Amino acid sequence: MVYGQNSFFPRELLTPTTLDDWTREANFQRAHLIRDDEALDWAMKNCEDNQLPDINVEPAQGKFMSLLCQVVGVKRVVEVGTLGGYSTIWLGRGVPEDGKVITMEISPKYAEVARQNIEHAGLSHKVDVLTGAAADVLPTIGPDHSFDLIFVDADKKNNPTYYREAKRLVKKGGIIIVDNVVRNARTSNMSVQGAPDIDGVRALLKIVKDDKEVDATTLGTVGEKGYDGFMFCRVLP
Ligand code: DHB
Ligand code: MG
Repeated sequence: MVYGQNSFFPRELLTPTTLDDWTREANFQRAHLIRDDEALDWAMKNCEDNQLPDINVEPAQGKFMSLLCQVVGVKRVVEVGTLGGYSTIWLGRGVPEDGKVITMEISPKYAEVARQNIEHAGLSHKVDVLTGAAADVLPTIGPDHSFDLIFVDADKKNNPTYYREAKRLVKKGGIIIVDNVVRNARTSNMSVQGAPDIDGVRALLKIVKDDKEVDATTLGTVGEKGYDGFMFCRVLP
């Protein structure tokens, strides 16, 4: 079945919203649900001072992953793509004191900023920041099937490679989350051709479609960084 226009909500009531609406809404929700946070503010300022690109996950998504870790009892995490460690801090908070987050970053400069941010957040004992291309670093991590959650948020064109490694590392019954699978609805816009990031997301979706060992869904995200989405994937026990 192909889902089309919803027949209950008349289309004229579903007025188009804009990036300004999404940003206002994200801030409104956040003001109620996500407390002011010295460590995260410090991290964001450090990222800005060091001119890191402003492409970290939004607070809503970071906190979602932290809550997920706590609810599910996630202890061991691999993160592909550290950037400045913003999502890493949320994940580090989600795992228990004897938990571990292994994260990797291709840029030595970004990795150093991330280490500072993680140290300032008091999470260095739970987090290892590895420097190098994820395609080279991931094969050095193990043992196989020893991690509860893999979060993939790096260069999108290599998503198929990262997914293959995530499948090797994650426990049966574990979770793989991939950020940025919607890309402002360009993923499904077939007039977009030859964009390596979109090709990487489409290739990943095709792999997951044919993968009988997993069950997955897309959770749309919308906010100050536009319309995007998490792919949430359960590796079957
Ligand atoms: C980009 C990368 C991300 O991980 C993200 O969340 C948003 C944008 C990018 O490379 O454009
Ligand atoms: Mg991302």
